[in-house]
Amino acid sequence: MKIDEMEASDSCKIQVITLKLGGVFMTKHLLTLADLAKEEFETFFKRAIELKEKQKNGIAEPLLAGKSLGLLFDKPSTRTRVSFETAMIQLGGSPLFISSKDTQMSRDEPIKDTARVLSRYLDALAIRTFSQEVIQEFAESAGIPVINALTDAYHPCQVLSDLLTVIEHKGSYQDLKIAWVGDGHNMAQSWINAAGTLGFELHLACPEGYFPDAQILSGAAQKSNARITLNSDPIAAIKDADVVNTDVWASMGQEAEQEARKKIFAPFQVNAALLENAAKDVIVLHCLPAHREEEITEAVLEGPHSVVWDQSENKLHMHKAILDILIRT
Ligand code: CP
Ligand code: NVA
Repeated sequence: MKIDEMEASDSCKIQVITLKLGGVFMTKHLLTLADLAKEEFETFFKRAIELKEKQKNGIAEPLLAGKSLGLLFDKPSTRTRVSFETAMIQLGGSPLFISSKDTQMSRDEPIKDTARVLSRYLDALAIRTFSQEVIQEFAESAGIPVINALTDAYHPCQVLSDLLTVIEHKGSYQDLKIAWVGDGHNMAQSWINAAGTLGFELHLACPEGYFPDAQILSGAAQKSNARITLNSDPIAAIKDADVVNTDVWASMGQEAEQEARKKIFAPFQVNAALLENAAKDVIVLHCLPAHREEEITEAVLEGPHSVVWDQSENKLHMHKAILDILIRT
């Protein structure tokens, strides 16, 4: 692959090297879905489907033999950590989990120094942290692809694998009505980024005071394809929806607000009565971990519309696609 051109990314104000991949321009880093063109989303979906098919047929793909992925995490993780580690192993490479509290970053070594040093050892770095600015700062100094494995602002890899699940169950994301019910936090904001570019209908219902960031929303809404609505009415959002999504009411870092949020978010629970308003063949997504009888009932999570275990599995296949595309191109 040759470096085709360099351009500045408005959304994150860093220089992004764009590489040519079979006619599709791929960004070097994966920091937010707002940076991706529709063709780039499609490239990730296509590659994940191919790699999943190969794995199901027992065909090994050691495409990243000799390569290493660092996973620098500031927050807990079950799925994202294990699926990235397994993805790297299945592709013939090696994952290294790095708890940031065990690094010199915990003793104030600057991000730009850490990024440059880690770039001399690793071939890619997945980061889970609080502030999106930290990930951006890493990307500015790193000579290797930086992947957002969740920040307070976004969870882009999760929404890519969630869309893969939608494609598998519904054939396509096009012409679908997708509902988001709950907190307007990182997951909702990545769904907004995706909707702006891909053009499916996205209807969000969030309690007042817990809306997504206005700038993220307006950035997506001004794209020509965007069909996004936001209000505090879960019934309106879910009406005839093909896909219903929710997430915990108190995200990592918001534990102190947990009890207060339980009261505020109670009308936004995804339960059987609310789901009656959706399309008959609606699928229910939850990125997990789930808090049963809070944002979702046990009956819905374990019920016939739930596809959460397929959704969880798809993190592995999508992470393989992300690593393959970012590291090899
Ligand atoms: N969905 C998700 O990111 O889960 P983990 O926090 O377990 O990684
Ligand atoms: N919004 C949740 C997602 C967990 C995968 C959080 O940030 O904790």
